[in-house]
Amino acid sequence: MTTVFVLNGPNLNLLGRREPQIYGSTTLADIEKLVREKAETLGTAVTFRQSNHEGHLVDWIHEAGAQGAGIVINAGAYTHTSIALRDAISGSGAPTVEIHLSNVHAREGFRHRSLIAPVSVGVICGFGSMSYLLGLEAVHRVMAERGRQAKPSQH
Ligand code: DQA
Repeated sequence: MTTVFVLNGPNLNLLGRREPQIYGSTTLADIEKLVREKAETLGTAVTFRQSNHEGHLVDWIHEAGAQGAGIVINAGAYTHTSIALRDAISGSGAPTVEIHLSNVHAREGFRHRSLIAPVSVGVICGFGSMSYLLGLEAVHRVMAERGRQAKPSQH
């Protein structure tokens, strides 16, 4: 069974009451429930975590890599600033999908740049809590595909 770490960065613990006009009324606990339901249909185990501290996120990315897990990450504002997260993702080797609730490209200029996008498999943004589900499905499919490629041909 594959495992996917769903990692959440700073201020995402405030979802539900944080700028609801941008992020909606869904809480992080609601999102975790949706992610777990989706993971069950995909047959994937999920480790779901949130921290406001960059170093915790770095440690968890290493942990995912060591376990051979995939990562779905909403790094919040660290997306736009953190070389440490970028190096952790590339160093861990874990297939990673960057996600955001909001469409960061329709917002302030400083949100248009991501330091982690170049070391991620891809980026999903703008779909609210659905971004998490799309991210989970994407990383699950990438891991299944890589698993198939790693196996010797059956022919
Ligand atoms: C966010 C977008 C970031 O720019 C912002 O700093 C966040 C949330 C999103 O999910 O839309 O904290 O990652």
